[in-house]
Amino acid sequence: MVLRLPPAADIHVHLREPGETHKEDFATGTAAALAGGVVTVLAMPNTRPPLTEPAAFHKALQRARQAARCEVGLFLGGTAGNAETAAALAGQAAGLKLYLDATYGPLRLEGLLALLRHFEAWPGPRPIAVHAEGRTVAMVLGLAALFRKPVHFCHVSRREEILLIRRAKEQGWPVTCEVTPHHLFLNEADLPRLGPFGQMRPPLASRADQEALWAHLPIIDAVATDHAPHTIEEKQGPNPPPGVPGLETMLPLLLTAVAEGRLRLEEVVRLTATGPRRIFGLLEPPESAVEVEWGGPWTISREGLFTKCGWTPFEGMPVRARVRRVTLWGRVVFEDGRVLAPPGSGRVLFAA
Ligand code: DOR
Ligand code: ZN
Ligand code: ZN
Repeated sequence: MVLRLPPAADIHVHLREPGETHKEDFATGTAAALAGGVVTVLAMPNTRPPLTEPAAFHKALQRARQAARCEVGLFLGGTAGNAETAAALAGQAAGLKLYLDATYGPLRLEGLLALLRHFEAWPGPRPIAVHAEGRTVAMVLGLAALFRKPVHFCHVSRREEILLIRRAKEQGWPVTCEVTPHHLFLNEADLPRLGPFGQMRPPLASRADQEALWAHLPIIDAVATDHAPHTIEEKQGPNPPPGVPGLETMLPLLLTAVAEGRLRLEEVVRLTATGPRRIFGLLEPPESAVEVEWGGPWTISREGLFTKCGWTPFEGMPVRARVRRVTLWGRVVFEDGRVLAPPGSGRVLFAA
């Protein structure tokens, strides 16, 4: 049986340009997106150099224009000194990204004063997206309430975080949040099996945390992959960097939950298409759709992946759905395991 769905938007990916194109680049990352039924990606600024100043930001936009195969928007990164600079670029960015806890790469906002400056300066309307874990979530919720500026919580992974965010939403505060497929479909019990391939920030959490995310899906605004490719060699090396790829496996995993009766199809559409688009004010591209084939079971495998990193933490998991064909702007861009959209056929969002 074949089913037509609205094309997905993944509001949290790392495409590694500029500076780490041995892991991924705009052409391979957007090929992986199309193979996963995703036609819109918002890319994170923790590149080398990070996207925190106009020169680097505009260069990355230019590269995206040349190489992307789908819609791409870029986040600006916040530093201790760039609140005014970032605010001036707000119109051309998907949003402002603030790293408040340790993660991959040096981009990190340490001081409370710097955080205050960003909340003062950022003009919106697109959100301030935060990598915040644990207590930092509570701190940022306080700022969202004080400034009444839209805040988006990336990769919520723990029970206490989602409980706090639920309270904030009940108060009508302008907050949204996403969860990742890896925090929905894996937990810390998978770590012995996965080793470094199961390491990411925030880390895999307990089964109780995982269950809390499933139970709160009705108040979660989006599923976003945090597609964070690193090479197999890097993952097996002495200092494995945190992060896992996810673009090609999000829809098959979520649709498998539908086949198993754990999730409704309308919820998958809300979490992967309408929900993420609403947060960032994205319009669905016209004449675009994802055709999904039900059946199988098929087994998730690194074979045939388009991400440059060439592995997946979901290797070996059985799925009951796969992406057969993707149409974007009236053209078939992916069909039966082949990406048909050439580099440069995509579109850069926000920046004309
Ligand atoms: O696991 C992660 N990897 N978490 C992040 O926040 C960053 C990402 C990366 O860039 O590799
Ligand atoms: Zn993060
Ligand atoms: Zn990330």
